[in-house]
Amino acid sequence: MSSGKRVLLIVGGGIAAYKALELVRLLRKRGIAVRAVLTKAGEEFVTPLSLSALTEDKVYTDLFSLTDEAEMGHIQLSRSADLIVVAPATADLLAKMRAGLAGDLASTLLLATDTPVLAAPAMNVRMWTHAATQENVKVLTERGISFIGPDEGDMACGEFGPGRMAEPAAIAEAVAAQLDPAAKPLAGKRAVVTSGPTYEPIDPVRYIANRSSGKQGHAIAAALAAAGAEVTLVTGPTREPDPAGVTVRHIETARQMLAGVEAALPADIAIFAAAVADWRVAEEATQKLKKDGSGDIPALSMTENPDILKTVSGLDGKRPALVIGFAAETENVVPHATEKRARKGCDWILANDVSPATGTFGGDANTIHLITGDGAEDWPTLTKHEVAAKLAARITEHFTA
Ligand SMILES: Cc1cc2nc3c(=O)[nH]c(=O)nc-3n(C[C@H](O)[C@H](O)[C@H](O)COP(=O)(O)O)c2cc1C
Repeated sequence: MSSGKRVLLIVGGGIAAYKALELVRLLRKRGIAVRAVLTKAGEEFVTPLSLSALTEDKVYTDLFSLTDEAEMGHIQLSRSADLIVVAPATADLLAKMRAGLAGDLASTLLLATDTPVLAAPAMNVRMWTHAATQENVKVLTERGISFIGPDEGDMACGEFGPGRMAEPAAIAEAVAAQLDPAAKPLAGKRAVVTSGPTYEPIDPVRYIANRSSGKQGHAIAAALAAAGAEVTLVTGPTREPDPAGVTVRHIETARQMLAGVEAALPADIAIFAAAVADWRVAEEATQKLKKDGSGDIPALSMTENPDILKTVSGLDGKRPALVIGFAAETENVVPHATEKRARKGCDWILANDVSPATGTFGGDANTIHLITGDGAEDWPTLTKHEVAAKLAARITEHFTA
């Protein structure tokens, strides 16, 4: 358990410093004690008072403070924790860490310690992509420093790209995992996840399908399994490999997917990321449809497929405690998804814009709006694996709040 562990949090001078306050809150919620060190530049963004109030501890800012040396020397401070977290890790701090500079309290602590370090970089996209920063990160990684983020998205400076600090929930999750690699916050929970497209047959050789790649659903199944949940993944045909540690049921049609989900119940968590066909051909031809030379085109009569999200959300007794749907929208994403949440009776909706320009279908990134009973929360553009990790963190928070 990470509860009872101690983190030394070094807050550098970047806009994202305000997120360090939320990080302290989340870590303390997990029972982790936090002692904060604020750089001189960091003090321009958040006050020692805020950090002190949230950590319920003294905040350290000055290398040459006689009282602090008497109370706790800087060497002792650097070794008093189970993990040092640098968030935000500025370009400047990363450069100092790489070079071994020790001109202020934060850099001295980082040089004087043998405690593991997790850094959450945050900076302007050009600062992040600059060869100097990239080289610093490479060298620091080789030396055993762990990194989380940065995420890609809109930046405070008005630019777009990688450089945003990872979300506090994701950092807290990484801290917990680092403090206790065996930590399985969702141990004991059962989850069923759907993924990929469905294939709806027209005749024995033709089918109606869609462009879902299964990347997001598979990543979610993997993230929940990594967090200790017992996961069944019901997936349509995809090129994705079966995630490790997950029970996988391969299906083709929407009806088979519903049957696969029902067979996986009872579960605590159900996440429906599959792109299930709304309709299927009413009467599948038993033989291959052929051109008969008359020029007549076969008329395909369609019928509605079962609504898996609505069916499971409305189950009596076997309804999972947390039912999460996806809304793939091409316009008015949040209003449509909010309406969908009410119509389906599920708990959360992860809404994403799948219009072709976004490249979401088949791509590696996803921009999510999380719709809950409390409203909409906009997530930055993240990789599908980051979305999965963030969702696993939110689910953990939901069950431990
Ligand atoms: C408004 C403003 C925002 C800044 N944001 C960042 C930032 O997000 N990331 C970064 O690496 N530096 C940022 N800087 C520059 C750092 O504050 C500067 O490099 C400072 O020396 C970092 O000190 P530290 O690493 O000791 O905290 C910002 C500067 C200003 C004035």
